[in-house]
Amino acid sequence: MLIEIMTLEFAMKNGARETLADVSLPRITVPPHPDQPDMSALEKAELKARIATMLRQQNAVLVAHYYTDGDLQDLAEATGGCVADSLEMARFAAAHPAQTLVVAGVRFMGETSKILNNEKRVLMPAPDATCSLDEGCPIDLFTDFCDRHPDHTVVVYANTSAEVKARSHWVVTSGIALAVVRHLAEKGGKILWGPDRHLGRYVQRLTGVEMMLWPGCCVVHEEFKARELASLRALHPQAAVLVHPESPAEVVAQADVVGSTTALIQAVRDLPNLEFIVATDAGIFNKMRQLAPDKLLLIAPTAGEGAACESCAHCPWMEMNSLHKLARVLETGEGEIQVAPHLAAKARIPIQRMLDFAATLKKE
Ligand code: 13P
Ligand code: SF4
Repeated sequence: MLIEIMTLEFAMKNGARETLADVSLPRITVPPHPDQPDMSALEKAELKARIATMLRQQNAVLVAHYYTDGDLQDLAEATGGCVADSLEMARFAAAHPAQTLVVAGVRFMGETSKILNNEKRVLMPAPDATCSLDEGCPIDLFTDFCDRHPDHTVVVYANTSAEVKARSHWVVTSGIALAVVRHLAEKGGKILWGPDRHLGRYVQRLTGVEMMLWPGCCVVHEEFKARELASLRALHPQAAVLVHPESPAEVVAQADVVGSTTALIQAVRDLPNLEFIVATDAGIFNKMRQLAPDKLLLIAPTAGEGAACESCAHCPWMEMNSLHKLARVLETGEGEIQVAPHLAAKARIPIQRMLDFAATLKKE
């Protein structure tokens, strides 16, 4: 796959430049939402108890993302694991003593856990669950892009393959991207950013750093519609608008709070508003409802002019995780994540750099 890479340049108001790489990305097939088998409350409780027993017997801990099924999230917390954003999932996996890490999320999350814990067993209920950002950043194209710009610091989002991480200087998540780029800005220099163009543009606008952006996007956040959001805000003038920065710039522009999944959850808990419009995966409502049961939560519109609604605010890959699949991987040992040790060693460097940097921020 040899594709010529050109660049489009945009003069920015603040004088810095943002450059979007004009790369022909592979077509991404978004799977249909998976059917979840019906279960009675009793069946569900029995299944959860069986999984909890297996976790205990196998010295295993469950780490779930906020977008996964609410039952998985609740089970993770009830069994001493965690439900978190992707930064906290990596931190938790790196620090936890369990011999087996069970990662309910998408593949890059399991790979990050394996890279940080190569000696441990990492299982995933849905090891085939990918991410459109990861799929949209193949290593051969990305390497070519980096090789053409050797004077740039390569910063990649965690939503990438182990190979792409290994080619980078820094790995970031949405929870720490701004702080890392501000830190790099103090040293001067230019940044090559991949793969989410919306998050990259958001970071560029707030830091003024010169950045070249890979043109990938998240199929879920890409679907939020600015005009329809404006109409919904008009109907709910008291609502605070919470937006994940993977959303398009016109949606981010309407936000009261822009941040990682954790930041958006904290906003629902801490802001005095009684109504919220939320532009991220609706799986996040599970934790939001627990922390603020009396507040009204509305999903930002994905329907409207030009809508494809492939995801409808629900990541089809995150949805591949289920209690049944979790029980199965614990019973059979299927779903184990492997990352070649030499690749893991290379990819660990930029991830560890992020975790070390995060630790310095916590101390401040
Ligand atoms: P967070 O790091 O904010 O949890 O986001 C991960 C993700 O995949 C968002 O789509
Ligand atoms: Fe990837 Fe988007 Fe799904 Fe997050 S919500 S895992 S960025 S496709």
